[in-house]
Amino acid sequence: MELRVFEKYPDLSIGAAAMMINYIERKPDALLCFATGDSPKLAYQLVAETIKREGTDISKCFFIGLDEWLGISPDNTGSCHYFLQQYLFGPMGVESSQSCLFDAMTTNEEEECKKMNKIIAERGGIDLMVAGIGMNGHIGFNEPGTDINSMAHVARLDEITQEVGKKYFTEEVAISKGITVGLKQVLQAKTLLMMASGKKKAPVIKRAVEEKTGTHWPASLIQQHANGVLMIDTEAASELVTQFR
Ligand code: GLP
Repeated sequence: MELRVFEKYPDLSIGAAAMMINYIERKPDALLCFATGDSPKLAYQLVAETIKREGTDISKCFFIGLDEWLGISPDNTGSCHYFLQQYLFGPMGVESSQSCLFDAMTTNEEEECKKMNKIIAERGGIDLMVAGIGMNGHIGFNEPGTDINSMAHVARLDEITQEVGKKYFTEEVAISKGITVGLKQVLQAKTLLMMASGKKKAPVIKRAVEEKTGTHWPASLIQQHANGVLMIDTEAASELVTQFR
């Protein structure tokens, strides 16, 4: 794993966006998997702007969403679907035939997981995984204690995730279950980019970087990844024993 510390959130976003664009240029038929949330939001906007401006060919890429709140409709502004469409897929000009997101309104959760597993398997695994980190150390909705060999699955969301998740919604919603790409698929991604910023993420990053790696704190599994890149800002790095500048 490589740790890169940037001064502030905009610097981190520029760095992450550059890495994503560079990846697409080097592997134009890549399978890219994207998390949602505040951490990658600006980076996604920069990626979309750059791709439009430079006319980067994304026609052979395939894009998938990392996770979704089950039961939340895609037109709800707090859904992962809405987020990816709004900040990345729409502005970047992704065709509907080139992307797959979990259907949060499904009546057949198993089928939904199978659909995602099939896409990932057919493409030989995820090429670039872009993830955030939850306040409980989760990656996607792989909550602490998730089986390291898990494939796409439905997860019961823990209290921290449900509480923190309220920030994405303008109204009160029930967010007790999520659907997510599994830990195995995340860890098997050829490159794993994880991002975090701000003071509140400092203790989360400390555990991810300095604790013994394990599923009790899923983000710490990036330590085991040969091509894992953790991009954070100085605030998120502020509790690390070794200061990286
Ligand atoms: C949510 C999302 C995750 C995301 C995490 C961190 O749980 N479903 O995919 O990585 O939050 O979000 P943020 O970047 O807003 O802190």
